[in-house]
Amino acid sequence: LTPAAPVTVRALVARGAGAELRVERVRLPAPGPGEVRVTIRAAGVCHSDLSMVNGTLAARFPLVLGHEATGVVAEAGPGSRLEVGTPVVLNWAPACRVCWWCQHGEPWLCAANTAPTVERGTTDDGDPVHLTLGLGALAEAVVVPESAVIAIPAGLPAERAALLGCAVLTGVGAVRNTARVAPGDAVAVVGLGGVGLAVLTAARRAGATTILAVDVAESKRELALAAGATDFLLSDDRLSKEVRARTEGRGVDHSFECVGRAATIRAAWRLTRRGGAVTVVGMGAKDDMVSLGALDIFHSARTLRSSVYGSSDPDREVPELARAALDGTLDLSPLVSGVVSLDEAPAAFDRLARGEGARWVVSL
Ligand code: APR
Ligand code: ZN
Repeated sequence: LTPAAPVTVRALVARGAGAELRVERVRLPAPGPGEVRVTIRAAGVCHSDLSMVNGTLAARFPLVLGHEATGVVAEAGPGSRLEVGTPVVLNWAPACRVCWWCQHGEPWLCAANTAPTVERGTTDDGDPVHLTLGLGALAEAVVVPESAVIAIPAGLPAERAALLGCAVLTGVGAVRNTARVAPGDAVAVVGLGGVGLAVLTAARRAGATTILAVDVAESKRELALAAGATDFLLSDDRLSKEVRARTEGRGVDHSFECVGRAATIRAAWRLTRRGGAVTVVGMGAKDDMVSLGALDIFHSARTLRSSVYGSSDPDREVPELARAALDGTLDLSPLVSGVVSLDEAPAAFDRLARGEGARWVVSL
């Protein structure tokens, strides 16, 4: 048996808000009791990473980016139940299973997950580094508690398996756990990145019959139709009218906000029928205030709520989604726009910032 030792890996690091992203060497500690080292195979580029890089979300630096990833268990710390070689997806909200929320069936709100970044590992110079959502998965490997690791069946292409850890679990969960979209429902999805496209796919799977995809970028039209939308609408002054024209004048039963801005929460609110529900999936900025009329809130009888990590239990639902992706009942191919190398990852962040493509995935 070789004694556990630290390893040095290449990782995508932000040195501060607004700083250029660079691939740097990061020293990971050896996995301690209850921890594992996972060799990363693929990691998606999600807007939440970008929000930490551009200052929308609070973060500490130097920051290793990435929280949507798949890999293989490379080394298990003392007492770990996971076997080396097991294919896994990383979980950015591991449930402690003992707090009030976990005990009451809401593990996605686990009280142990409050920090957007966690300090672990060091730079080559020995300075502490911080990991996005406790993972820092845009790296050749991570060392994480085994509660942050979910075993999945083998055989799924890595660029698709990676998306299960954030965009897909979030999008599918928002539709089926949070909103509980029913067959025949009319749905609108505002914002068509990896998350919004996953919501479209899930809405189609749930049997929604009118599925309106909304974005500011015309380039999202083809992606949206491929992911399951029945119609694409540009987000402009005519949007509410266009949505009403497709819903017998009422508005949709369910709208999903997948941008993370007050303005689009208000837009989603206006697209929804009296008595319908608005599900906020996007993670917005602290000081971006949503204003709604008090009379409108009463009279419209709408529900406004958020969906954190798809209101899901990732330990149960990620393997289930992996099986669905394997047997073809969940088609993830429309969500992947391209696979790039770690050195090309900064360019993928630029594309995400410009609203280009669906999900860009880094192959490691
Ligand atoms: N109206 C409609 N769509 C918009 C608007 C707007 N005013 N502004 C931006 N968009 C679109 C962009 O064109 C893009 O297609 O929203 C989409 C956002 O997609 P991504 O940047 O790929 O973001 P994604 O990774 O899908 O995350 C979306 O969910 O998890 C959270 O933090 C994440 O808040 C972010 C949201
Ligand atoms: Zn994410």
